Amino acid sequence: MRLVKIKYCFAFIVILLTLITFLISFNFIPTGFKHRTIIESKSPQPVTVTEKNHIFFLKTHKCASSTVQNILMRFGHMENLDFLLPSIHNYIGNPIHFNTSMVSNKYSTVDGKFDMFVHHTRYSQEVKSVMRSGTIYVTILREPAALFQSLYSFYHFDKKYKCNLTEFITNRLSNKTSANYIKRYNNKLGINQMNWDLGMVTNDFENIDMINKHINMIERDFDFVMIFEYLDASLVLLAHIMQWPLEKMAYLPLNSRKNTYKQILSNDDVDRLLKVNMADNMLYKRFLLKFKKMVSKYGIEKLKKEIKRLMVINQEILEMCVQSVANKGYAGTISYKLKANTNAICKYIAMNELKYTSYLREIQYERQKKYNELDKLMNN
Ligand SMILES: *[C@@H]1O[C@H](CO)[C@@H](O)[C@H](O)[C@H]1NC(C)=O
Ligand SMILES: *[C@@H]1O[C@H](CO)[C@@H](O)[C@H](O)[C@H]1NC(C)=O
Ligand SMILES: *[C@@H]1O[C@H](CO)[C@@H](O)[C@H](O)[C@H]1NC(C)=O
Repeated sequence: MRLVKIKYCFAFIVILLTLITFLISFNFIPTGFKHRTIIESKSPQPVTVTEKNHIFFLKTHKCASSTVQNILMRFGHMENLDFLLPSIHNYIGNPIHFNTSMVSNKYSTVDGKFDMFVHHTRYSQEVKSVMRSGTIYVTILREPAALFQSLYSFYHFDKKYKCNLTEFITNRLSNKTSANYIKRYNNKLGINQMNWDLGMVTNDFENIDMINKHINMIERDFDFVMIFEYLDASLVLLAHIMQWPLEKMAYLPLNSRKNTYKQILSNDDVDRLLKVNMADNMLYKRFLLKFKKMVSKYGIEKLKKEIKRLMVINQEILEMCVQSVANKGYAGTISYKLKANTNAICKYIAMNELKYTSYLREIQYERQKKYNELDKLMNN
C-alpha cells in the first residue's frame, strides 16, 4: 500500500518537473535571462538567440535602398554602433571598387573594423576585411526593366542623352553591342546597374559564364537579398534574421517618388530593356526564387500577420510625426514636414541620407577624438 503511494508521488514529481522545464523553455516563466527566446517556424526545438548588430548593406541604386538605409542608420545610431562612413557626401568608392584605403582615418575605430556599412559603394570582397565578425551581408534587388525606367527619370538621363526613354531604347539600346559602349552616366549609372553596384565589370555583361560566376559569388557572400517589390515582406524577414523587434523596421519612404513620374512603356520596349539588362535579369530571377523559398520556410500566414503589424506601426508613426507631405528637390522626391514638438524617432525617420550621414559623422568624430586624447595621455 505504502509503496504504491510512494510510486504515485514519484510519478507526480517527475511530471511536475517536466512541466516546469517546458514552461521555462518556452518563456512562460521568466528566468531573468536578457535574451529573447524565439521558436523557429518549422522546428519544435526552441532556439535561444540574441539580436545581431553587425550588418553590411550593399546599397543598390533605385531599389528603395535609402528607405532601408535609414532603418539601419537609426538602429546603429540608437545602439551606438561603429559605422564605416564616407568622409564626404554619401559614397565610399563607385566607380572604383571598395578597397581599404577608402576608410577615412578621421572616422575610423580602435581596431579599424566596423559594425555597420550602409552607404553606396561598389562591392568587392575586400569589404569583409573591415567588417567585424558575425556581420550579416544584405542587399536589395528590383525588377530590372522597372529599375532602368526609374534610373532614367530620376537622374534626368533625358537631358544628358537628349531624348526620352522610348527614343533612347529605339536608338541606343536596340543593339546590345552598341548598348555596352554607352558611357555610364557620372561614370557609374547605366545598364545592369545592380550587377555594377555588386562589383561586376562591364566586359562581363554579355558573358553568360561570367555572369553566373558573379551571381554565385553574390549568393555565397550575401546572407539575405531583399526584393523591392516585396519591401514589407523583406523587412519582416530581415527583422527575423537579425532578431530585431519589428518596431525597428518602421519607416517612411525616403528618396522615393509618386507613381505619376513613371513612364508607361510598350511590351516591345520592356523586352528590349530586359535584353540589354540581361545580367541584371539573371541576377533578379535567381534571388527572386531564393526569396520565394525563404517566404515559404518562414510561413506565408505568419508573414502576412507580420506585414499587417508593420503597416500598423508605420501608420502610427506617420500620424504621430508628419504634418504634411510634399515632393521636392532634384527628382521631386517625397519630403516630410514634421509636426511641432515631435520626438527623436520622428526626427531621424524623416531625415534624408546626407543630413543623417553628417550627423553620424559628427558623433563618431567626437567619440574618436576623445579616445585619441585619452590614448595620447596614457602614452606620454
Ligand atoms: C583604392 O582606392 C583608392 C581611392 O581611395 C584608389 O586611388 C586606388 O587606386 C584603389 N586601389 C586599388 C588597388 O584599386
Ligand atoms: C518620346 O519622343 C517622341 C518623339 O519626340 C514622341 O513621339 C513620343 O511620344 C515620346 N514618348 C513619350 C513617352 O513621351
Ligand atoms: C551594333 O552596333 C555596333 C557598334 O555600333 C556595330 O558595329 C554593329 O554592326 C551593330 N550590330 C547590328 C546587328 O546592328
